[in-house]
Order: sequence, then structure tokens, then C-alpha cells
Amino acid sequence: MTVTTAPTARYRKDYKAPSFSIDTVDLHFYLDDTCTRVVNTMQVQKRDDEPDLVLDGEQLQLVQVTLDDRLLVAEQDYKVGRKSLTIYNVPAQFSLTIENTINPSANTALEGLYKSAGVFCSQCEAEGFRRITYFLDRPDVLSVYTTTLYVANKEEYPHLLSNGNKVDTGTTAEGLSWVRWHDPYPKPSYLFAVVAGDFDLLEDTYTTAEGRQVLLQFFVDKGNLNKAYFAMEALKNSMRWDEQRFGLSYDLDIYMVVAVDFFNMGAMENKGLNVFNSKFVLADEASATDQDFINVEAVIGHEYFHNWTGNRITCRDWFQLSLKEGLTVFREQEFSADQGMRAVNRIQDVRIMRTHQFEEDAGPMAHAIRPDIVVEMNNFYTVTIYNKGAEVVRMLHTLLGEQTFQAGMRRYIADNDGKAATCNDFLQAMEQASGRNLNQFKRWYSQAGTPEISVQTDYSRRQRKLTVTISQASDKPANAPFHIPIQVELLSQQGEPLHPPELPVNSVLELTEPEQTFTFTGLKEAPVFAPLANFSAPVKCNDTRSLDELITITRFAQDAFLRWDAVQQLYSQAVHEAIAQGGALTLPNALIDGLKASLTDGNSDPALVALLLQIPSEEGVAAEFKYVPVSAIHRAITELHEALARGLYTELLQAWDMHWPQATDKQAAFSKEAIAARMLCNTCLGYLAAMTDSEAVHERLQRQFAAEQSMTLVFGALQAAVHNQHRLAEVQLAQFANRWQHDPLVMDKWLAVQATVRHASSIAKVHELTEHSAFDWSNPNRVYALLASFSHNFAQLHQADGAGYALLVSAIKRLNTANPQVASRLLSPLLNWRRFNDARQGLLQQVLSDLRNMPDLAPDLFEKIEQSLR
Ligand code: PHE
Ligand code: ZN
Repeated sequence: MTVTTAPTARYRKDYKAPSFSIDTVDLHFYLDDTCTRVVNTMQVQKRDDEPDLVLDGEQLQLVQVTLDDRLLVAEQDYKVGRKSLTIYNVPAQFSLTIENTINPSANTALEGLYKSAGVFCSQCEAEGFRRITYFLDRPDVLSVYTTTLYVANKEEYPHLLSNGNKVDTGTTAEGLSWVRWHDPYPKPSYLFAVVAGDFDLLEDTYTTAEGRQVLLQFFVDKGNLNKAYFAMEALKNSMRWDEQRFGLSYDLDIYMVVAVDFFNMGAMENKGLNVFNSKFVLADEASATDQDFINVEAVIGHEYFHNWTGNRITCRDWFQLSLKEGLTVFREQEFSADQGMRAVNRIQDVRIMRTHQFEEDAGPMAHAIRPDIVVEMNNFYTVTIYNKGAEVVRMLHTLLGEQTFQAGMRRYIADNDGKAATCNDFLQAMEQASGRNLNQFKRWYSQAGTPEISVQTDYSRRQRKLTVTISQASDKPANAPFHIPIQVELLSQQGEPLHPPELPVNSVLELTEPEQTFTFTGLKEAPVFAPLANFSAPVKCNDTRSLDELITITRFAQDAFLRWDAVQQLYSQAVHEAIAQGGALTLPNALIDGLKASLTDGNSDPALVALLLQIPSEEGVAAEFKYVPVSAIHRAITELHEALARGLYTELLQAWDMHWPQATDKQAAFSKEAIAARMLCNTCLGYLAAMTDSEAVHERLQRQFAAEQSMTLVFGALQAAVHNQHRLAEVQLAQFANRWQHDPLVMDKWLAVQATVRHASSIAKVHELTEHSAFDWSNPNRVYALLASFSHNFAQLHQADGAGYALLVSAIKRLNTANPQVASRLLSPLLNWRRFNDARQGLLQQVLSDLRNMPDLAPDLFEKIEQSLR
């Protein structure tokens, strides 16, 4: 076996403060497609007695090094390593100038400085700055940056951008045009950015709570200005919200957002100069769905909120990533919720946790929100660090309450502003503000895995007393008990809310022991006990409640998540029974009746009804099994879908008709009510299209597909037809492609909808689509739309003959050197091979070891394969 030199692991416990600080950085970029020259002058100070300065650098061509005006001599004064530059015996304080070149056009990994689609763009988080120049590329080295960009042809690059304020412009004696930027706030290298290109510019201003004017600028591809207005509004809303809810204002005079087509991630919070994947900026109603708009608002908010949680206070080391990401996702979620659809948002966030985070936590790459060991940092931008990290912050918020939590935030900022902090610094501020001891709570930061709670209730009529015993167990045997906030509801048999004296005012029980008993008195009859309201902790709940109790909860719980979750339990029970018995799936009549009632009840929120009708995905069900019965899950989910379509046929049609006027109401195009109506119309059609012989359905599919002013409706119809293999599917796919072939972001939907058909034909289809003109291996959005979508098409990926694996693996091989970050994202669904039957285990082990034997295997892939096969 040929093994590429194994990348080395780094450990959290090995943290050591840097031996040098770099106080200022003066950068000059002579931009050129294939040979950009970078001149980097740093003021360096020694912090301890280390004689040599070791800088990070990758894929750089060094030209020369000057120390305090002395040109250094190679080998004698310095040494160039494969990933470093060592300068021997440096003085206590000095100025160091490094000149090097890079090739932006050859940079397909989209990390460092790259040129794509005519635009120069940088991406430095996590460790991309070292691909621009030699530096101490670590987040605890904070410097003040001045950046000058030079271009030969300013018509080609009318916009030359970097962080901070534009301080000067000019032309050199050689005729180069230049622009200089200065960012007064010390920052780590990962927040550095440069952009050069020709854009349309949308401008606005925002006046802060203190009365300062901030210039807001959005740079988008030519011709797309009309698609940037929504993002601009979202930015202003974010700025206002952060002032009102967190008391935090913006700190520079200018805030810029650039939308680029080639980007590995969603967006990047570079100081004063966010770079966005264009799909999170550009949106208009004809080409973007409501969900796209909601995502734009959330990501704009997220990057803006980073200005305080991430930029002003950054991370000491990358093991602390959740310090900024978990907290910022929490802030983003609260922002979105305060915009008006709190319950809907919460349920969607829980779905992400259950299908993706629980899965990650149960697999070979499981890690705590503050991991202990990392090989490739890019592998840790995970649903655990982000979403579970946000759940952990949310638990603190639940335990402390809004007021005390905000006091903790103020303390955190007062103590850490301008610094590189740790998760413990955050917890310490929360402890000081609340006076609470969070020692046990801290285990959420150090222990991976999903705890499972079990609840037992015992009612004594004589004593009018309910005794509740709650226990916790972990899927990771070494884990010590967690501190788990469990918000609960007690309901009478008739569904009235009860609040016995022992229940805290905020209804939050605190489970800290392996097993604990809570008693509630003064109860005339046995109440219904509903734990985990609002999903108050990221745990599994071993549910033993009766059908009657679940039905009571679905009808009467105050908390929308509890109502939704009870219905999910009922679906899940039906699916598990069908799988266990190998027989036909049956649904309780009470459930069907309840769903009928909600569908036809003009008073219930259509968005919540739509969510009630959303059945678990194959992937979601699979996450509930230790050993995954792939085809049985596939069959059960298909039957569940069909049973609902058949059982609710009349009411689904009725609901579609009832909400159609609101869904297409022009005046209220983006109101909460219209969004909710469209959610429900789409959900109804998603079932109805399974009734392939119905003329009534055929007509509505056509009518909705023709609703050209709303991509939500058009795409909802297309998805319904394609996923149900309705006879309209082919025509609609062709029409859609014809109408939208000029717009790649829309064509991504067209690719994704075909990759997610739950039918064996999807493999051949995806193969075929890799040859389609709408697809492009070099653009991450296209790869995600087609191949990442397919990788979540559970039963097709896991086809017994291995055809799904072969498809995905050939894509991974192709992307290994071209774009390892994207390749690594595609690999994740293949890692948990131990949970499948022998035949699949054999196939998966085979493809994983094939990959491992690849020459030049990227560290991103190496780390995951090693973890998986170990
Ligand atoms: N820090 C970015 C965010 O969460 C994500 C990101 C990470 C983008 C790494 C690019 C590279 O907003
Ligand atoms: Zn972030």
C-alpha cells in the first residue's frame, strides 16, 4: 500500500502563546492572473526567548526577504520549508519585508487568492492567508492592516477592495492604478480580504443608534442589481436588531458585501468586507423561493453579527471555533425568529439537529463542540460546531433567562473586546453575570455524543401527586452526566395547562444526575407530562407515551414544537412497526382525523400545518437505527407518503384551494401569511402528485407550475411532479430548463430536484447530468446541487449493488486535488459504514481503502478516511 506522508494531527492541549506579535502589516498586491506579486512588510516583536521566527506559507514562490533594510541571504539567514519560512536569530524588534508571488488562476481550491469568473477574490479562514504570504497564520496574532492593490488595467477592475476604510488612490510612474485601504481594528489574518473586479454597485446608508452614518455597499455581477435589494434590507434589519436586542452597533464607516459565484461555503465575515456566495445575496421573486429569501436574510444576519462575535472578539485557536460560530448561529436564529416565524424556525432547526447533527455525533467523525484533535481545520466547519454549538448557547439562555444572559454578554464583551478568547472566557462571563456555577454545564464543550433521556411518570390519586423520574444515558461510555435543562408542560386530560407549585416559573427542570425524581402535587387527575418543550436540550428522548397522550399533546400543548414533535412520534412509530413486522404500514385513525381537521381548519397557521405534514426523511429514520435496514426504510417511507396522500386526498385538495388565493396574492408577496400559504400549497401538492390518475391534481399541478411570478410555487409544482414521477414531470423539467438556462442558481434547483428522486433511476440521471451544460465541476454550487444532493438521497446512495457509492467516489476522486474542501463534504455520507449490512460494509470499506491509496490524497479526505477505518 502506498501511503502519502500522513498529515499530522494538532491537539487542543498543546496550545502555546505565539513567540512573536505582528503589530502592523503593510501589504501591496500587484494583481496579475498567473503571477500576482505580494510585498508584505510587518513590524514584529519578540514575546519570549525563541531565537528563530517560523512563519507559515504554502504554495508560495519566495522572491526575497529584507530585515530592517538588510537583504537576507538564503540558507545563511533563512530557510524555506514546504510549509514554512524560518528566519534565524532575529532581534527583539524588527521590520520584516517578504516578497513573493502566487498564481491566482491556478487556484481551484478557492482558498487563498483566486481568480474565477473574471474576479480576484480571497478566502482566508481558516488557514488561507498562508497561501497569500508568509505569516503567523493563527487567530491569536492580531495586527493592524494597510493594503494597497495595484492593477494594470483599471477598466477591467474598477473596484479594488479590502478591509476598513479607503484612504488613498493613485497611479504609479509605471502607469499602474492603485487603491489603499486601512483597517484600524487589529484582526487575525483569517479576517483579511481583497477583491478586484467589475461589478454593479448598490448603495445605501444606515444611521447607528449613536447617530453615526454608515455607508452600505453591495457589489454584484453586472445586471443583477435588482436582485440585491432584499439583501440590503436584510442588512439594515440586522444592524437595527443587534442594537435593539444585544445593544451592539457597527464600528466602521463602511460595510461592504461582495457576491461571488465561486465559493466553497455560504459566506465569510471578513472585517468590513464580507464575501458571499451569490446564492445568499441574489434573490427576486421570479427566480428565488421563499426559503431562498429566508436563507439570504439569515446569512446576511449571521455575517453581520460576527462583527462582534468573531471579529471584535475572536478565537484564541481553532479548537475554539464554536465560540464564534455557535454563538453567532444562536444570534442568527434569534434574529430570524424575531422577524416573525419563531415556531416554524425552531422546528426547522430541530430537524437539522436530528437528521444531521445526531448522525455526525454517532459516526466516526464525532467531536465535541470544542474538539480536542484536528488534522484539517476545514473539516471542522460542521453541524456540530455550528448548530449544536448554538444549541449549547441556547441552553445557557434557557437556564439564565434573557436578562441575565444579556448581562453575561455585556460582561463577555467588556472583558474580551479586542482579544482572542476561549470558550471558557465566555462561560466565565456568564458565571459572573449570573452567579451560577457552570462547572457541570461545561461538559457540553468537552464531551461529544447525544445524551438520551428517559422519562417515567407515576401518579398517585390518593396523594394527588405526580412523580416523574428522569434519567440520562450517553452513547459515549466515558461521558460524565450532563447538566440538561428540560422545559416541560403539564396538561390535564382535557388539555388545560397545569402549573403545580413545584414547577419553576420558567417550567425548566434541571437534570444533573444520572437519574433524578421530580414531584408535583395538587393534581386532581393524572396529567399528561410533556418534556423537552421548545427542544430545550439537544438530546434524544426515549418516548414511551401512549397514543392518547400523544394525541392530547398534538392538540393542546402550548409549545408548537411539542405539538409537532408528537406528530413526528406517531409517524415514527408507524414506520418502525412496519419495518419490524415487514408488513403494510398503518396510521392511527386519530392521527388521520387530526390531520384532516388541521388541513381544513381555516384558523390554524398554514405554515405549522405544513410542518405537521412533513414526514421524516429516509436519512432521518436511518439515524434512529443502530443497524440500518436500507430497503425496509425506503419502503416504509414510500408507504407513509402514499398513505397520507390517499387518506387525506379530499382535505389536501380542499386546503390547496383554500390557500391558493393567499399564496398568489400579489400585494402581500413576501408577507408571513403569503409564505405560510405557499408552504402549505406546496406540501399539499407534494402529496397530491402521488395520485397520478387524478384529473383534479393534474389541473392544479399545471396551474401552480404556471404561476410564473413566484419561484416558490413554480418549483413547488416541479418538485411535486418530479418526486412523484407524475406524467407531467418530463414536460415541466424541459420547460423549466428552457426558461432558466441562463441563470445558474435556478438551474441548481433543476439539478437538485432530479438528484433527489427516490428511485433507482436517479443514479443514471445524475451520471447523465454531469455532462449537461448546466453542470460545472469547477463550481462548488453546481457540485453541491447535483452530487451533495444525491449523497443525501439515502436509499439510492446505498443501492445494494454499490452503484451509488461508485458514483459518489468517482466525483470525490475527481475533486481530490482540484478542490479538497468540496471533495471532503461529499465523503461524509460514506463514513459510517459499520451501521450497514455485511455486503454494504464490504463495498464501503473497499471504496474507502481505494480512496486512501490515491496518490496526493488531500489531508481533508485522509483525516476522515482514517477516522472511519480505524
Ligand atoms: N466563517 C464563515 C461563517 O460561518 C464560514 C466560512 C468558513 C467561510 C471557512 C469560508 C471558509 O460565516
Ligand atoms: Zn459564522
